[in-house]
Amino acid sequence: MNITFIGAGQVGGALAQRLAEAGHHVVLAENKEGSATLAAALQRSSRLTSAPIEEAVRDAELVFLATPFGATTSVLGPLADALAGKILVDCTNPVGPGLSHGLKSERSGSEALQALAPKAKVVKAFTIYGFENLERPEFPAANVKPAMFFCGDDAAAKARVAPLITDCGFEPLDVGGLVQALHLEHMTLLWVRMVRVNGRSPRLTWAALTG
Ligand SMILES: NC(=O)c1ccc[n+]([C@@H]2O[C@H](COP(=O)([O-])OP(=O)(O)OC[C@H]3O[C@@H](n4cnc5c(N)ncnc54)[C@H](OP(=O)(O)O)[C@@H]3O)[C@@H](O)[C@H]2O)c1
Repeated sequence: MNITFIGAGQVGGALAQRLAEAGHHVVLAENKEGSATLAAALQRSSRLTSAPIEEAVRDAELVFLATPFGATTSVLGPLADALAGKILVDCTNPVGPGLSHGLKSERSGSEALQALAPKAKVVKAFTIYGFENLERPEFPAANVKPAMFFCGDDAAAKARVAPLITDCGFEPLDVGGLVQALHLEHMTLLWVRMVRVNGRSPRLTWAALTG
């Protein structure tokens, strides 16, 4: 699949590497001249290339957004038309003061993002863990894979994203429509507080077990 990443830092760089090594054609959008982040991400795999952002989005079937949530408006505003009809994988998390929800839990970041790019098919995924698990999702001692909860309103878009989640080493778990994104964002805050504040291992993951 032709995939573009906007944002190639801890999250974007790790996922772009995984997907490129799984055989996808992955392009990193260029954000600014001399970006150290972009240069470091390109070093992760010889299969990765970069292109100016408009070109990278135009040529993609599916676009990952992995930028700070605060940059969403400035990033997506100029791209709203270019994103029409494309799948937009929202990897962002709105985080407010004291690890509160960045939009005061009034609506999810994903729904805010959908409003900025109304013709894109937004799927929220890859947000419920820290980057450490995105870099290394393998748990050889376990007989289950870590679950990756994801949601979105477009069933066909989710069907395209699920195999990418598998390619990245996770068990995809579709939790429903974009209305569920707010709950995923709270789940992220739960993980972040447990790990970054309370000292649990950053290798903490969730598993989906059914009887
Ligand atoms: N870190 C985690 O453990 C984690 C886990 C799950 C989800 N998330 C979420 O994922 C998102 C990215 O987090 P991260 O840790 O990967 O951040 P990061 O390492 O700081 O990387 C941010 C990336 O966004 C780019 N960027 C920043 N402003 C931009 C703009 N205005 N236009 C285009 N690109 C821009 C940066 O490029 P330059 O360096 O060139 O500016 C960089 O490639 C955040 O929303 C975060 O909440 C983070």
